[in-house]
Amino acid sequence: MIIIKTPQQIKLIAEAGKIVTACHRELRKIIHPGITTMQIDRFADDFIQSHGAQAAQKGYRGYPFATCASVNDEICHGFPTNIPLREGDIVTIDMVVNLNGWMADSAWSYPVGQISEQALKLLRVTKECLYIGIEKAIAGNRLGYLSHAIQTHAEAHGFAVVREFTGHGIGHDMHEDPQVLHFGHPSKGIRLREGMVFTIEPMINIGSYELTIDHNGWTARTADGSLSAQYEHTIAITKNGPLVLTEQD
Ligand code: MF3
Ligand code: CO
Repeated sequence: MIIIKTPQQIKLIAEAGKIVTACHRELRKIIHPGITTMQIDRFADDFIQSHGAQAAQKGYRGYPFATCASVNDEICHGFPTNIPLREGDIVTIDMVVNLNGWMADSAWSYPVGQISEQALKLLRVTKECLYIGIEKAIAGNRLGYLSHAIQTHAEAHGFAVVREFTGHGIGHDMHEDPQVLHFGHPSKGIRLREGMVFTIEPMINIGSYELTIDHNGWTARTADGSLSAQYEHTIAITKNGPLVLTEQD
């Protein structure tokens, strides 16, 4: 069941979103060769708490950290580690902020120092996939229209869309209906309505979309070892079009 939000409730989610945004803006400054993903996780956890909010991922279904930190071939749900990031790595930091019971969620892929042309292209195309999806998130459109547009863009550049993980409704709960696929047929899926709030979060691989899960039971990585990137925003469907609640610039 999709829970429709009032404009007032969307404002409360947007307040949580502002903290996510501000935290990502800080991460952009501190992510460089030598920093560890554990340091990034601590920074984000402290940042969120110092703004009167909680890192909602911590303890969620037993997940142990404030952030997911997925390096290179890790697709999502990477565990923060004490291994320093190296020049040329890419790292996706995903976090959910709970402010007074309302959640906002955003993941962002960061380059570590100078990265390869191919990695740069992956980041660019993946971010484009997110914004192409957002552009299509208009009341009356079917969800599949958005999913299909994302898939088409990724595949036009020779990349693959991960199948196993999807965007999701969000509000009082981190994961609500609907499921937002990043691939599929344009005429499928529910029709979008004003007041829906959900994430769009394409995970795009350079190679095949197949994945494996690590022994920690969480971390997904590409089966072929190729790089994977992800950009995620929380958005609201409004009468004036899509409203991004976690926008950074
Ligand atoms: N933020 C993730 C998402 O986009 C959820 C992470 S799963 C968790 O859905 F358990 F780590 F929280
Ligand atoms: Co997320």
